[in-house]
Amino acid sequence: MSHPSTYEPSNGFSKWLDRRLPVLRLMHGQFIEFPTPRNLNYLWTFGGILSFCLVVQLITGIVLAMHYVPSGDQAFSSIEHIMRDVNWGWLMRYSHAVGGSMFFLAAYIHIARGLYYGSYKDPREILWILGVLIFLLMMAIAFMGYSLPWGQMSFWAVTVITNLFSSFDTIIPGVGSAIVRWIWGGYSVSETTLNRLFSLHYLLPFILVGVVGLHIWALHVVGNNNPTGVEIQSDSDSVPFHPYITMKDAFAMSLFWMIFAWLIFFAPNYLGHSDNYIEANPLQTPPHIVPEWYFLPQYAILRAIPSKLLGVIAMFASILVLFFVSWLDTSKVRSTKYRPIYKWFFWLFIFTCIALGYLGAKPAEGVYLFYARIFTAYYFIHFLVVMPLIGVIERPKPLPNSITEDVLGKGSSPSGGAGKPEAAPAAPENR
Ligand code: HEM
Repeated sequence: MSHPSTYEPSNGFSKWLDRRLPVLRLMHGQFIEFPTPRNLNYLWTFGGILSFCLVVQLITGIVLAMHYVPSGDQAFSSIEHIMRDVNWGWLMRYSHAVGGSMFFLAAYIHIARGLYYGSYKDPREILWILGVLIFLLMMAIAFMGYSLPWGQMSFWAVTVITNLFSSFDTIIPGVGSAIVRWIWGGYSVSETTLNRLFSLHYLLPFILVGVVGLHIWALHVVGNNNPTGVEIQSDSDSVPFHPYITMKDAFAMSLFWMIFAWLIFFAPNYLGHSDNYIEANPLQTPPHIVPEWYFLPQYAILRAIPSKLLGVIAMFASILVLFFVSWLDTSKVRSTKYRPIYKWFFWLFIFTCIALGYLGAKPAEGVYLFYARIFTAYYFIHFLVVMPLIGVIERPKPLPNSITEDVLGKGSSPSGGAGKPEAAPAAPENR
């Protein structure tokens, strides 16, 4: 959102720099005086939390790569070397492994927040699409990273997932297997495969940083959505990003850090699979090959469908459908808060995702398979039928006239706001 800059360079150097490269002016505009809706709740902290997770993954990952050896016979032992011999190596590794989980946890909450408050709707379509792209990149990076310890789960997860491409043989015989051999760099998953996975696992996060930059740029063009879904109309609807949002985010983030730290220091392997502490053995398949918890819903969808090819298509479609929600949702109202019918379906959808996650960890047979099929069907029905249909037939509740009215109640007069901090925060008793 463009607004006139109030930045005043305060010393000789900043004046000198401002005339040549106004980077401090840009930062001031985007991260200090940026007008932010005054009614954002704590779900809006997850963007900041995700940025924090990204930085943690980059720093710990770069340090780990200094000691990790991507070779068939040393990868596993180099991880043990990091854990036992490298100074603070255990901290780097556990922060990176737990950090991956926390990254996905935050991303799922961030996505659910966007879905609930309709943050994908006009004018935030590009912002949302960049988000889905980020999510796809995160999935690719996490999958490749998981292969690196070269434990049993690493090896067999790579085998199962890369083999999925062989399903294309059903369309053009030979093509799928050729793709698989090309990915493997040979006739089986081997050190060659490990090398390319390591190379890409190091490269893709920097591409991710670029896409996150675009995501935040797009956010700063259209501005934040908020729990009402009503846009900022006057100064009194917003507060400057600093100190209001920075302080609020700092508080919420410190709670997040406590959970993060608790997992690192007290339960670092809780979210992982114990089989990954057994070195990769191509001659012994583990009884249950399961991915990390954050891939379980997609894994359940993959296995719910009897045909391998259709399963692969459904699994990819379950993510790709997110690209189109801006157009699949026909409601005139953004926030689900004001949508009495859709609200129920939204929670049914969340339940469906959790149920698929649970079923993804169970064997694909009997009653588990039955329910996995039901929930897979609802997953797609939600996007392709419920979203377009409910938007047309539902009568939303009346929206507040403004964000200020939502916060202060009816009859509140718009005044103050971003750039006029003295009038911005409402007295606590008025909230
Ligand atoms: C590395 C991952 C990501 C980072 C660092 C990131 C960062 C951010 C930040 C800092 C914000 C502003 C604060 C907030 O609204 O929470 C934001 C907003 C947003 N993000 Fe993300 N994001 C990421 C992933 C995603 C994904 C996967 C999606 C969706 C598929 C997404 C969709 C959105 C949307 C729609 C908004 C605007 C929300 C609103 O104003 O209501 N983001 N993101």
